[in-house]
Amino acid sequence: MTGALPLSEPHHDTLARAEIEALPGSLIRAVAQEGLGRADVIPLWFGEPDGVTPDFIREAAKRSLDAGQTFYTSNHGIPALRNAIATYQAGLGRKSGAGRVCVTPSGVNAILLACQALLSPGDRVVLPTPHWPNLAGIAAVAGATVATVRLRLLDGRWRIGLDELLAALTPDTRMVMLNAPANPTGWMLTAPEQAVLLAHCRRHGIWILADDVYERIVFTGRVAPGFLEITEPEDRVLSVNSFSKGWAMTGWRLGWITAPEALMPALGKMMEFNTSCAPEFVQRAGIAALEQGEAVVAATVARYRACRDLAAQLLGALPGVRVPYPEGAMYAFLSVEGCTDSLALARALLREAGVGLAPGRAFGPAGEGCLRLCFAVEEATLREACGRIARFLAGWREP
Ligand SMILES: Cc1ncc(COP(=O)(O)O)c(C=O)c1O
Repeated sequence: MTGALPLSEPHHDTLARAEIEALPGSLIRAVAQEGLGRADVIPLWFGEPDGVTPDFIREAAKRSLDAGQTFYTSNHGIPALRNAIATYQAGLGRKSGAGRVCVTPSGVNAILLACQALLSPGDRVVLPTPHWPNLAGIAAVAGATVATVRLRLLDGRWRIGLDELLAALTPDTRMVMLNAPANPTGWMLTAPEQAVLLAHCRRHGIWILADDVYERIVFTGRVAPGFLEITEPEDRVLSVNSFSKGWAMTGWRLGWITAPEALMPALGKMMEFNTSCAPEFVQRAGIAALEQGEAVVAATVARYRACRDLAAQLLGALPGVRVPYPEGAMYAFLSVEGCTDSLALARALLREAGVGLAPGRAFGPAGEGCLRLCFAVEEATLREACGRIARFLAGWREP
């Protein structure tokens, strides 16, 4: 018999691959969806600075457009940007070289391409948690199995149990994803911890995917300790970076990968079959950000440090609320005593107090009982949001 399938009955054959159908939707977006467009809501749910991209970066893009740079570029990015990235990284003590850099349209795209290039179905990936959900999601898209290792709270700070992490990095592990400074916890790896991890991963041939997108948003020093400081060019280490956070360029979608040279042809192919290249005028803006952006990065970090301190002070003073001190990134990840359903709490906060936060459960079961607040906003906005949270929690009891 021939004929179309009845549209009213979803048919097996019309579903996506099982791995994709099984992916959970974003719980951050589940909350945001209910509040987007509401003028009375203070939105602190996404990881996004509230200010627009600095002028000199926007001007560089405009100049590029006016010069007619509207064509495809090479898969790995324009040589000028690859060189600028290598020079910028060298200035931070990171070893790379333009030949090891691949420009990508965003950090999240860089992670997807890297995982698709390196992971086969059934591969084991290890990930500290609470974690940015996209890391686990992308590994799952590639068909990998994700094992998590819980961060622990020690003296008011998140820490990895190094022995526990090393024990999880079994010889059959293909990759460890290390996002530090971390979203959502602000956790950082120390340089000695990185050295131990690198030695272990070398021994077992495990890939380290270092998600370094918050490496400049640190509250002591100029940059977080980085694997690229200690790796040899042929090490199985891949660093993912982005223009989104340090230069307020979330909407531009520009990032990069630093990888062993031997992986570059594969990454070029991945780029070809994905977006082929990042837009040239966006890449030109990236050069301006790297070459003229140090003052912007420094001012941004100073502002976030003040925001972090204010959020920790105002929220940490609330009964039953604990705010582990974030050492980097742009989030307060607060735990609320008595909360066993962070999604319901985030929804109630939105509905009744007009504050948009991300539910801790969005970052894995280890985040349950917590809420994530992005503090990359003006001081007055942050004060108002904390005031609303305080008034709401004063009368809150979980049903
Ligand atoms: C930990 C982490 N990695 C990577 C990214 C990706 O950033 P983008 O895709 O904007 O470059 C984000 C964005 O929120 C993030 O939090």
